[in-house]
Formats: sequence, C-alpha cells, structure tokens
Amino acid sequence: MKIGIPKEIKNNESRVGMTPAGVYELTKYGHTVYIQSTAGEGSGFFDNDYKKAGALILDTIGQVYGISEMIVKVKEPTEVEYALVQPQQIVFTYFHFASSEALTEAMIKSKSICIAYETVEDDEGTLPLLTPMSEVAGRMAIQQGAKYLEKPVKGRGVLLGGVPGVAPGRVLVLGAGIVGIQAAKMAAGLGAHVTILDINMKRLRYVNDVMPPHVVTEFSNEFNIRKHIKTHDLIIGGVLLKGAKAPNLITKDMLKEMRPGTVIVDVAVDQGGCVETTKPTTHEDPIYIIDDVVHYCVANMPGAVPHTSTMALTNVTLPYVIKLANLGWQKATEKDACLQKGLNIVEGEIVYDEIKEAFQI
Ligand SMILES: NC(=O)c1ccc[n+]([C@@H]2O[C@H](COP(=O)([O-])OP(=O)(O)OC[C@H]3O[C@@H](n4cnc5c(N)ncnc54)[C@H](O)[C@@H]3O)[C@@H](O)[C@H]2O)c1
Repeated sequence: MKIGIPKEIKNNESRVGMTPAGVYELTKYGHTVYIQSTAGEGSGFFDNDYKKAGALILDTIGQVYGISEMIVKVKEPTEVEYALVQPQQIVFTYFHFASSEALTEAMIKSKSICIAYETVEDDEGTLPLLTPMSEVAGRMAIQQGAKYLEKPVKGRGVLLGGVPGVAPGRVLVLGAGIVGIQAAKMAAGLGAHVTILDINMKRLRYVNDVMPPHVVTEFSNEFNIRKHIKTHDLIIGGVLLKGAKAPNLITKDMLKEMRPGTVIVDVAVDQGGCVETTKPTTHEDPIYIIDDVVHYCVANMPGAVPHTSTMALTNVTLPYVIKLANLGWQKATEKDACLQKGLNIVEGEIVYDEIKEAFQI
C-alpha cells in the first residue's frame, strides 16, 4: 500500500504521524511510505533519517495526499486539507468529529474512510490510542507543578523533595486513572508526600498495592478534598467521567482555604476541568493566578514534548497502521473489533452513533 505522512499544519503542532522506525517496519512488509519534507523536524526526526529508513520524500502536502492510499497523521485535517482528501482514501488520525460540524461535513463530502484514534477501544473499554498522551500529561504535570511552586513565579517556594531536616512538599492528586497514577509516581520519585483520591475502590486498591508508603490513598469526597487542599502544596486534576464534563471538585470558594502560592495543575482542562476556576491556557502563556493560587491549565500538554509524544503515540498506532496496510480497511476492521470501533465515517456515511447524535442526524 502507498502510505502518506503529511506535515502537521495545525497551530503549534510539532508531532508527526510516523517515526523513521515506523517507516522501516512498513517497508519491510513491502509498503511504500511517502513523507512530506521536514514533517518530522519538530519532533527531532529529519528527512535524512526517514530516507535511510526507506521513505520517499515529497515536497508538498498536495503530492502526499495525491499519491497515498492511506494518510497517517496526528491531528484532524485542517480546512486547507479538506479538498486534498481523496475518495476511498483511508485517513487514520485524531478527528474528534463531535466538536466540529465543518470537519464532519468535509469528510462526508470527501468519501474517504475516516478512522479516529480516539474511538479505537479495547475489550475493557479503555482507549489505547489516548492512553500514551495521558501518560505524558500525568508525568509532565509534576514537572510543571514543581517549576511553578518556585517563588519567582509566585509559587509557595517549596522544593517538592525537601532536604535532610526539612519535610518534603505535599502533592494532592485527584483521580487515580492514567494521569493520576503517572503524576503520583513522578511526585513519589522526587520524594514528595502524595495523597491520591478516587471514587473507584479498584483503582485505590491498585495504587495502594504498587506505590511506596509515602503515597497515601483516600476516598474522594468533598469532606476529604476540603481537608487536604489546606495542607497540600501542589494539586493535580486528573479526573474523568467518560463522555461528560469533569465534575468541579474544587469550587471557587475553596481557593480561599488554600495557602498563598499553592499550585493547581488541572490536566482535565480538556473536559472542562475539575476546578471551577479552570480556563484553558497555552504553552505561550500557561498560568494565571486567582486568590493567590497559581493555575496551570494547558489543554495540550504533550505538545511541549513532541519528541517523546510522537514516539509514545506511534508506538501504539503502528500495529494498527500495519494491519490496515496489510489487509486493507475492510478486512482489518472485520478481524479486529478494537479497530472497527475507530471507523467514524465511511465513504460519505457516518457510522459512529455519537457523531450522529452530536449533529442530530
Ligand atoms: N491537558 C492535557 O494535555 C491532557 C492530556 C491527556 C489527557 N488529558 C485529560 O486528563 C483527564 C484524565 O485522563 P485519564 O486518561 O487519566 O482518565 P482515566 O479514565 O484513566 O482516569 C480518570 C479517573 O478519575 C476518577 N474519578 C471520577 N470521578 C472522580 C471523583 N469525583 N473524584 C476522584 N476521582 C474521580 C475515575 O474513577 C478514574 O480513575 C481527561 O480529561 C483527559 O482528557 C489532558
């Protein structure tokens, strides 16, 4: 199959749909990979790396879309790309159709096969192509939180690990899912005291089993949250209610209970955030302060570490890309129920119920 990797043109997106290692694997199966010149540069992969792995470099995005039977990328096609998508072409990427009627209409019109990373779902109901980005964001949350706890950026002036003779900082993690566990692990590694809250006892039991004794689990309820926000230096929001807006576990009035310079990193900002005062920020301007509490609410945290994020993403997408290339989309989705859930729009028809519901079709 002819597989094309265009350069991402969405603002501030430096990831790329495939690494040189992915190209190498696909060419071993006899497929041809076309990549747009400089597509990997933002992630630290250069044209020469792709050439050595067996890719053919094309100058323009139009050439890549024009020649390829399957397009593999990171973000949804932008308006500029709408007209480039071909009938019967497979497009494998994050789409998030329900949030854009224009994109949905354009892809219906294109008569392409749209397979969305975010709806590929395994037997346990988890989303394997979203997990790596939560892992990146969870780990990064502690890195960012530690930085904003420093006094020159209006934090409490606390070193998370403490030093001999001085108690370590205290980190409160809301949600013991992917984000929460990765955050707890990083904070514990720095030597911080960690309290992690969830409403799912299975998750709390797991955390309790695998984490060191300075990671303490407690049930999530308003009473416990009100108690802990007074004594913790860094608060991580990692709560998710599938398909719904995140619950406001920290309300505006609670900010006054916190010590000045407390830092909140609300990773759940992309689902509305679990703090009432959360509003989305960007890597250019990541924080704002309300009632002396520092809020970090960047909606695309993995975008700041594209080298790691590209590799983490392509590690999980590549097996599906290989399946689609080897078998074609019909057979690949027939044989793989997880991949079948990724089918969103097929040759002009929406085949995913939530998208139909979103636009009342
Ligand atoms: N900002 C970013 O760049 C970025 C990147 C990746 C993920 N995210 C977001 O981070 C959030 C968490 O993602 P995840 O993959 O960890 O989800 P997850 O489903 O693995 O974990 C969510 C956890 O929240 C728990 N929860 C639900 N209600 C709760 C409550 N009232 N109190 C405490 N815990 C509660 C659930 O039981 C679950 O364990 C999502 O909104 C996701 O979209 C943001």
